[in-house]
Amino acid sequence: MSFPQETLGHPHVVAAAAAIADKLRSSIPVAAVGVVLGSGLGSVADVVVERGGSAIDYGAIPHFPTSSVEGHKGRLVFGRVEGTPVLLLQGRVHRYEGYPASSVVFPVRVLHALGVRKLIVTNAAGGIGDGFRPGDLMVIEDHLNLTGDNPLSGPNDARFGPRFPDMSEAYSRRLRKLCFDVGETRGLALQRGVYAGLLGPSYETPAEIRMLKSFGAHAVGMSTVHEVIAASHLGVEVLGLSCVTNLAAGLSSTKLSHDEVKETATQVEQEFSGLVLDLLPRL
Ligand code: HPA
Repeated sequence: MSFPQETLGHPHVVAAAAAIADKLRSSIPVAAVGVVLGSGLGSVADVVVERGGSAIDYGAIPHFPTSSVEGHKGRLVFGRVEGTPVLLLQGRVHRYEGYPASSVVFPVRVLHALGVRKLIVTNAAGGIGDGFRPGDLMVIEDHLNLTGDNPLSGPNDARFGPRFPDMSEAYSRRLRKLCFDVGETRGLALQRGVYAGLLGPSYETPAEIRMLKSFGAHAVGMSTVHEVIAASHLGVEVLGLSCVTNLAAGLSSTKLSHDEVKETATQVEQEFSGLVLDLLPRL
């Protein structure tokens, strides 16, 4: 597996979007609502395919980065949920895999080029907040980008957005409220809080978790923040959802493992998929 260091810019985005639209035998724009599915949370896309949606492997899309991480499938799914056209990214790439941030956010930019203006970004995360338990779902209210990188560094391409995009409501207040409303009708007790995005791939030390807690973080993970920065830049409205797959380092007696992350994600997948499928036509 190789990790191209090429900076993927606007022409690459246009080429990828055109190839996808072509495969879907559709003229751009394709969908208004997009979803990025994190580790072990891909079953929403499986449901959309079962209901007649189409899937395209990332490898068949020009310039699309492919993930090396277990639990990340690597395909784009297009379909309808109660009549609403949706585009789902089943699997993502991470900065820690060796890709530059421009590659990490490339799929989000392609979704935007395909007409996506509302985006649900999901992830598996370690729980830090008081009372958080593995299996909890958290509505992301805000984030801390502690990756040491930003996908917008370098020359700004005004076709994507402004040089200095506002991040004061990166996670839409409107979509958060909607999510709590839908969660309530489904009988879900959703958590809320701040997601801290770190580079990884090592899990945090207990000292780092104590620091993150003092910084106001409620959950920690290795994704999402770059995608949300790129989405804000594009003017896309974002809903962020974390699946708390484990208590963060030092908060329980067990060691952290990717197997535990995948296992918990699988356990709550139905609850999670139900919520997302209910939300999609209501965004
Ligand atoms: N830390 C970082 N990333 C994660 C975790 C964690 O505890 N759990 C799932 N992704």
